[in-house]
Amino acid sequence: MQAKTPEQSKTILTDMVLPGETNPLNNLFGGELLARMDRAASISARRHSRRIVVTASVNHVAFSRAVPLGSVVTVEAKVTRAFKTSMEVFIDVWIEDRESGERTKANEGIYTFVAVDDTGKPVLVPEVLPETDIEKQRFEAALRRKQLSLLLSGKIKPSDATELKALFE
Ligand SMILES: CC(C)(COP(=O)(O)OP(=O)(O)OC[C@H]1O[C@@H](n2cnc3c(N)ncnc32)[C@H](O)[C@@H]1OP(=O)(O)O)[C@@H](O)C(=O)NCCC(=O)NCCS
Repeated sequence: MQAKTPEQSKTILTDMVLPGETNPLNNLFGGELLARMDRAASISARRHSRRIVVTASVNHVAFSRAVPLGSVVTVEAKVTRAFKTSMEVFIDVWIEDRESGERTKANEGIYTFVAVDDTGKPVLVPEVLPETDIEKQRFEAALRRKQLSLLLSGKIKPSDATELKALFE
């Protein structure tokens, strides 16, 4: 299976914030943003694996900035690292200034997808070849995040979280 770069799985969704999608403060409802992030990340994982993909876990989401009604929101997803059947997808969320067009980072998230066959059984995916500095940093840290996610979901024992343990030694 031929390795792919994060750029090859890059997926960009741009959309506005409409009145039905806001909370009482007139900012984008968190669940709506999570859905947009999941959609972009899922397409990205599909582009990387060319398989059916399912969301296995939402590892991290930071709602650092509110996204006001009427904002133009861009959700950008890339596969940062692939393991055997799972892929980590990093999602950056940007808002665009109406007058200057300048983009500001609003939020980010990290999701894990698993590639499956028609019966839902996990299947192998291609490796990721990071190119830029940020892609390399995200690739390096992805194994720690995978171990943390597996540990928190009770799928591995603390003694098996070798990358996490190494952080404290
Ligand atoms: C995700 C799913 C396919 C995993 O099935 P499973 O029987 O646990 O399979 P495995 O134990 O072989 O795990 C498959 C991969 O997922 C990874 N994985 C499973 N749970 C994980 C978690 N919480 N965090 C990170 N990775 C996880 C495993 O480490 C493994 O990765 P690897 O093959 O790259 O090493 C299965 O749990 C499932 O179908 N869940 C429902 C998905 C769904 O409906 N999502 C929402 C709608 S799309």
